[in-house]
Amino acid sequence: MPKGKFLRGIILIISGAVLIGLSAGWTFQNKGSFKSGNQKDSKSGGEKTTEEVFKNIKVLKGMPAYQLLPTMHFFEASLGFDCSNCHVRGHNDSDQKPEKRKARKMIEMVEAINKNNFDGKQMVTCFTCHQGNADPKTIPAVMTAEMMKEERAEEKNDQLIKVPNRLNTSEEIIAKYQQAVGGKDAFDKITSLKLEGTAAMGNRSFEITILQKAPYYYYSSFKLPFGTFERGYNGKTGWEKNPRGAQEIGEPDIQDLKLDADFYAPLNFLKNYSGLKFSDVEVIGKDTVYVVEGNSSSIRRYKFYFSTRTGLLVREIQYDKTLLGDLQTKTDYKDYRHVNGVLFPYEMQVANYERDQDIKFSSIQANIPVENKIFDMPAKK
Ligand code: HEC
Ligand code: HEC
Repeated sequence: MPKGKFLRGIILIISGAVLIGLSAGWTFQNKGSFKSGNQKDSKSGGEKTTEEVFKNIKVLKGMPAYQLLPTMHFFEASLGFDCSNCHVRGHNDSDQKPEKRKARKMIEMVEAINKNNFDGKQMVTCFTCHQGNADPKTIPAVMTAEMMKEERAEEKNDQLIKVPNRLNTSEEIIAKYQQAVGGKDAFDKITSLKLEGTAAMGNRSFEITILQKAPYYYYSSFKLPFGTFERGYNGKTGWEKNPRGAQEIGEPDIQDLKLDADFYAPLNFLKNYSGLKFSDVEVIGKDTVYVVEGNSSSIRRYKFYFSTRTGLLVREIQYDKTLLGDLQTKTDYKDYRHVNGVLFPYEMQVANYERDQDIKFSSIQANIPVENKIFDMPAKK
């Protein structure tokens, strides 16, 4: 089952010369100054902490080092900033910029607010005040025609939310979804998949190919103007290859790849996510949806939106925990069509705080021969 999030890495690759996985872990190659979020063998025997890996950490101490970069993305998203608004390019450890020094104070302030008022729960974050701006607003806005339209739409939604024959548990909702995509019988008849299409971002678009083989073989390639980016998983080793060479994907990113690689993802829903619960009924466009929440790990939670009408998964929001708040990636699944009796979404709109992209498959074929060696890690260069 193709998932929108397989492109998350790519969203960020395009954003600069650096390679960033926004997910739990990260791979960051900044002129060789530091590398890979997958550090073990620290003094304490576990993951390395921020202050063990970076040079000038004064407030974000004692956290796993791989959490630092996602937290920096959280700052960007909350303030509408780039790295360079707070950092001198190439010298992230320098305290030269007043914005960086201010940010330290703000981190302490936010920690104090939450500790003194919300039992230490992350109720107030940078975004609470900043809302994507450096200068938080102090005066409530005046009403606009647009806001009035939104209010009216919300009132209308309240009426749509009455669902006849409403399901009551996450198990029922997921069982309906599994049936809707074809069920076990249909999945039993396919053993491989080849998906080809394009991802469009603004006025640029690039080619995507994904190969999958039951039960967990996975390969994807993205052709960008500056080279091809590949990822693969052969049941044991996960890897990525870019124009600079190939490298193994370690914990915790490998967990994402394993989810992408699950050929029977819809059927394994209850196995792949824990703590699943039916939390709400909402409206998306003209459709009323069941909202089911769950986690795939301690730092990754999801909201899944299933159409009450068709039973299909129409939206997924992935929340990545950072030290100071969550970031979200939203995927809308559209244009479901049959491939050998299984329904696949031919279109996915994936958006995070930085950008929005539209993936469209022109062809999804099942049961074509695929050689296993494409899933193995290529030689390092
Ligand atoms: C709102 C300001 C802000 C933004 C935006 C920001 N940072 Fe930071 N960054 C900080 C602060 C503050 C620290 C120091 C934290 C501490 O002292 O505990 C820091 C520390 C770092 C460090 C550790 C440096 C060292 O060796 O001590 C790195 C690396 C880093 N940031 C990278 C980035 C990257 C990459 C981006 C953009 C994706 C970014 N930052 C965006 C405020 C920011
Ligand atoms: C309770 C509200 C509140 C929260 C929460 C908050 N800020 Fe602020 N922040 C402000 C206000 C108000 C200002 C503008 C006043 C000033 O510059 O002194 C500001 C200013 C800033 C500035 C300076 C901007 C500039 O252009 O000079 C930075 C950087 C900043 N905040 C970072 C953060 C970060 C990072 C967080 C989360 C750790 C955060 N803030 C959380 C209220 C908040």
